[in-house]
Amino acid sequence: MQLPKIAIERTESKFRHLPRHVGIMMDGNGRWASQRNLPRLAGHRYGTQNVRRALDACQKFGIRVVTLYVFSTENWGRPKEEIDGFFNLLAEVIDRETENFRTQGVRLIHSGSLEGVPARLAEQVAHAVAVTRENREYMLNVAFNYGGRMEILRAIRRILEEKIPAEVLSEELFDRYLYTAGLGDMDLVIRTGGDERLSNFFPWQAARGVFYTTPTFWPDFDEIELEKALVVYDHFLSTNGVRTANDQ
Ligand code: IPE
Ligand code: IPE
Ligand code: MG
Repeated sequence: MQLPKIAIERTESKFRHLPRHVGIMMDGNGRWASQRNLPRLAGHRYGTQNVRRALDACQKFGIRVVTLYVFSTENWGRPKEEIDGFFNLLAEVIDRETENFRTQGVRLIHSGSLEGVPARLAEQVAHAVAVTRENREYMLNVAFNYGGRMEILRAIRRILEEKIPAEVLSEELFDRYLYTAGLGDMDLVIRTGGDERLSNFFPWQAARGVFYTTPTFWPDFDEIELEKALVVYDHFLSTNGVRTANDQ
């Protein structure tokens, strides 16, 4: 799938306040499938395919930093067949998209651990991160085998290992020890599938964000759905008179 060059695609924003960094909890694949009497894996297939559509929509609105919740540390509790099938679908997407990301200026960042992940998939993730490392136009942070508390503990461990003196530790410094170092706070968190749960999703980075949930299941989340979330975000910031560094 060929994307037009980003700079041309960035439209004049009709929003007063546009989030700089959007996090998406892509939930509801299973329910989407069962509504159609399909196996859960069919929902995951449509869900993984929808990632491209959602990213295109984000680019269209000029959102340059996107975090996607792909697989949580808690998701290991699912049946093995579902996990295996889901991982195969992820491998397909990475195969299909890595070269696109590389040429379209998208830098892939992985938040999470590759421990316990099948070797081939782990290699694919590491490869995608490595070949897009120099890109700066768009940041795509993939939360894969990710847990928020685990990330915070990891940061603390690294800080202790480096013997950082307590008095120099600040929010800015702590931020550098997270997977998302340099990506900035999450301004808007979207959860599809209607559940109003946080599910261990970037507790540090989303601490000051706006939380938006829609009953739409992830495979159906398209540009119009994204726009609805952006309208709510814009309205919220406008009526609260909040101004952030990210306002456009
Ligand atoms: C989200 O969809 C995808 C992953 C967590 C991998 P679900 O699989 O959680 O779908 P529901 O919530 O059961 O409908
Ligand atoms: C959240 O969805 C995690 C992802 C979208 C990957 P889940 O369906 O796994 O979350 P819970 O079970 O509601 O916490
Ligand atoms: Mg779910």
